Amino acid sequence: MRNDPRQYDELAGQWWDPRGHFVSLSWIAKARAAQVPRAPRPGAVLVDVACGGGLLHPHLEGKGYTHIGVDLSQEGPKVARSHGVDHVVRGDINRIPLADGCADVVVAGQCLEHVEDPYAVAIECCRILKPGGKFVLDTIADTLLARLFIITVSENLPLPGMAPKGCHDHKLFVNPDRLARACETAGVPMKLRGLFPHISDFLPWFLRLRPDVRMRPVRATNVLYQAVGTKVA
Ligand SMILES: C[S@@+](CC[C@H](N)C(=O)[O-])C[C@H]1O[C@@H](n2cnc3c(N)ncnc32)[C@H](O)[C@@H]1O
Repeated sequence: MRNDPRQYDELAGQWWDPRGHFVSLSWIAKARAAQVPRAPRPGAVLVDVACGGGLLHPHLEGKGYTHIGVDLSQEGPKVARSHGVDHVVRGDINRIPLADGCADVVVAGQCLEHVEDPYAVAIECCRILKPGGKFVLDTIADTLLARLFIITVSENLPLPGMAPKGCHDHKLFVNPDRLARACETAGVPMKLRGLFPHISDFLPWFLRLRPDVRMRPVRATNVLYQAVGTKVA
């Protein structure tokens, strides 16, 4: 069965493994955090929708947020808390168990492509965002090229950092235009751009000569893309 959420519990020991399946998520998390502004006030809240093992946390250091995660899995929240996430709510992002307008920032990284209705989940994210707050997301486009890279190649290459086999279902990949329209109807116009790894970083990373692979912005949104917007006041 593809996209089985139990996989995240079975692989929970790999969240922070620098050679494990999830390491590329930490590279994408760094690019996500770069879009998060400094906290506008003491005690500002950042909600990390489907936070997994909390890979975003170190990249938020010094920004001044209380980092609240939401995730369905059993083990992810424990791992996230042990890596500094302030509080993790166990819950379904289809109905985020948080109040309207509670968040100064909402981030949704690499999760919309794992739910049946990503457009409704994006609207849920906009619901919990304060007017003037920032929404940052990244996900995978509903294209053949994305299917080729993310499933055919990444899930089958026997190399560190590749996605676990079966963790994606291409039928759930997310249409960029439809996603942007959904957010706009919920009061958050989004700017989209693609993200692509610096290919030249892979070999030095593999040889342990550099700590990570940098993600760079690209114009094409047809594989991995990021969207950023501010909720209209
Ligand atoms: C690919 S991981 C991304 C984790 C994290 N955002 C990151 O980028 O490192 C997908 C996460 O979504 C969570 N997830 C999947 N479906 C969910 C749902 N309906 N409600 C809450 N969490 C869900 C999984 O448990 C997993 O932690």
